[in-house]
Order: sequence, then structure tokens, then C-alpha cells
Amino acid sequence: MARIFSGVQPTGNLHLGNYLGAIRNWVRLQTQYECIFCVVDMHAITVWQDPKELRASTREVAAAFIASGIDPKSCILFNQSQVSAHAELAWIFNCVARLGWLNRMTQFKEKAGKDRENASAGLYVYPNLMAADILAYKATHVPVGEDQKQHLELCRDIAQKFNHDYGTETFPVVEPLILGEATRVMSLRDGTRKMSKSEPSDMSRINLTDSADQIVQKIRKAKTDPEPLPDNAAGLEARPEAANLVNIYAALGDLSRDAVVAQFAGKTFSVFKDALSQLAIEKLNPIAERMRELMQDQGQIDAVLRDGAERANAIAQPILREVQDTVGFLRP
Ligand code: TYM
Repeated sequence: MARIFSGVQPTGNLHLGNYLGAIRNWVRLQTQYECIFCVVDMHAITVWQDPKELRASTREVAAAFIASGIDPKSCILFNQSQVSAHAELAWIFNCVARLGWLNRMTQFKEKAGKDRENASAGLYVYPNLMAADILAYKATHVPVGEDQKQHLELCRDIAQKFNHDYGTETFPVVEPLILGEATRVMSLRDGTRKMSKSEPSDMSRINLTDSADQIVQKIRKAKTDPEPLPDNAAGLEARPEAANLVNIYAALGDLSRDAVVAQFAGKTFSVFKDALSQLAIEKLNPIAERMRELMQDQGQIDAVLRDGAERANAIAQPILREVQDTVGFLRP
């Protein structure tokens, strides 16, 4: 049976990359698959989080899922720490994954930076927890942005090694679903860097909660080159900032890159940026407004997360038991 699992960290503002690379695709997939969507608070604390802010961000990310169109009745929506199977399975995977595999993870290298000795051990084994998130439900498909591809390859390696070592068919080999025209949204200030929550300059990203004015400002100031738009998509090669804005327009407008380039061929970037701002406001502002409404009623968000955790637990517990039996944990 096909089952989807995916998650977002509650670490500060959600941005256009999270929306176009992940959440928006989930909204479409929810009618085709059984879906489990998670606010991954245990992943968040791999780097320092203020407890009060973590609670607020957890609710805010849940609100963003719902405001974007995730239906918490047909999908399961919960926060990771409420389902203990994630932590329990992660420990088993800590003992399956090899150090050599983790040493290859580029995201650890980026996040730990130069001061690697001072990174948390949690940050290092983060991909094992991510594999546990997915495999605690035997999920088969994982919709993510391109930056998560390497972690999903590790998840496949863990599943295969577990199955091989114990001579079972316990875990499926998961398929990444990397969908749409904006699978890697880049910074508005530097087209060679990913749009990211951790980038110090807020001008580098469009947040889901940005006002219309902020969106206009950020897009107007977005870096471009002096050339007008080319007359075919091949003309965007070696123009990372231009390509990024075209990709964003295509994804937001549900168009192909080619269609966008055909529509704006030869136009200046100031014309294109005005159109992009309008489109971004039209698509994002209703989400921000709905998020604000939802955030007024914390009790309602908490109730959704509680209900989701119960339903998630009901799926994960029997799978965890099966794994524990396979491993040889005695249940006297
Ligand atoms: P996180 O919280 O960094 O990002 C959440 C989702 O947004 C996507 N994304 C992007 N997509 C396109 N362009 C960008 N600039 C961009 N930035 C972020 C990410 O690919 C992701 O899909 N490790 C994960 C969370 C996680 C997870 C999981 C995901 C934990 N367990 C299990 C899937 C399955 C992360 O840090 O995502």
C-alpha cells in the first residue's frame, strides 16, 4: 500500500522554498495517498531552540500546513515528539547506519560548519532519525525538496541493510517525490545558495507570513543580471538569479518554465518582477491570513496535533513491535 510521510522543522519562519518544494505538493498528493505530515520538533533541537519559541513555531508550522490546504481529517498531522516510536526506532537505526554513511552527509557538513567538534551528536545522527520518521510507518513515498535527496538515499540504505541483516522484508525501499518547477528555490540575494531559514538576511527569502509590501520589496531588491529575459529556457543557463525567479514564477503559476519564458521573452526584469510580485501576493497572502486566523485559537491547533498523534501512534506502535521482535528484544 502506498503511504506518504513528510515533515518540516519548526525552526523559524517557513519560506517559499518550504512551500514550493514540499507543502504545496503535499496538498495535491493528499487526495491520492494516505498521508502523514509531521512537525519535526525532535529534529529542531539538534541545534539550540528556545523552548518558548519552539512551542510557538510548532503550532505555527501546523497552522501553515492547514492554511496551505492540508486537511487534518483525511491526513494525519502531528508533532514528532508525541509519538515515541520515532525515538525508539531511531536508536535501532543508530546501530544499523554506518559511520561512513553519515560522514558523507553534506547537510551535516554545512550545518556543523567549521566548528564541527562543537556540533551536537544529534545533528550528526539526524538522518537516522529521519529514516525512523519514515519507516515507523513503512511509508513508501516521501515528497521533499531536492536538498533532502541524500537523506532519503540514506533511508533506503538503512532499510535495505536492516532487511538484509535480519533476513526480513520489514521495510519498503522509499521513493522520493521531488515535484514541480521549484524543487530547489534559491536565495533572492545569491542564486547559487539555497533559500533557507538560517540565512541571516531576511531579504534573501520570502516568508509565508510576509505582507504584500514585504513581498514587493524583496522581489524588487532580488539580485538579477542586466540582461532581459531570454526567448527560450536554455538562455537561463549560467544566469542563476534569473533562472530562480523564472522557476518561482512557473511553480507559483502552475506553468512550465518554457511557458513563462515564452510569455516574458525580451521583457526587462523590472517588468517581470512586478508580475512575479503580484502572483506571489495572490498565492501567498491568503495563506498568511488563514494562518493568522488559525493562530488565534491555539486550543484548536493543539487538538488537531493531539488527534494526529493518536492516529500516528496507532500505525507506528505495531510496526515498532514487529521491529523489536525482529531485533530480538524480549517482551517478557
Ligand atoms: P526542512 O524543515 O529544512 O524543510 C522542509 C521541506 O522544505 C524543503 N525545502 C526546500 N525546497 C525547495 N527549495 C528550498 N530552498 C527548500 N528549503 C527547504 C525541504 O526539502 C523539505 O522537504 N530533514 C527535513 C525534515 C524531515 C523530513 C523527515 C522530511 C525530518 N524527517 C522525514 C521528510 C521525511 C528538513 O530539515 O526539512
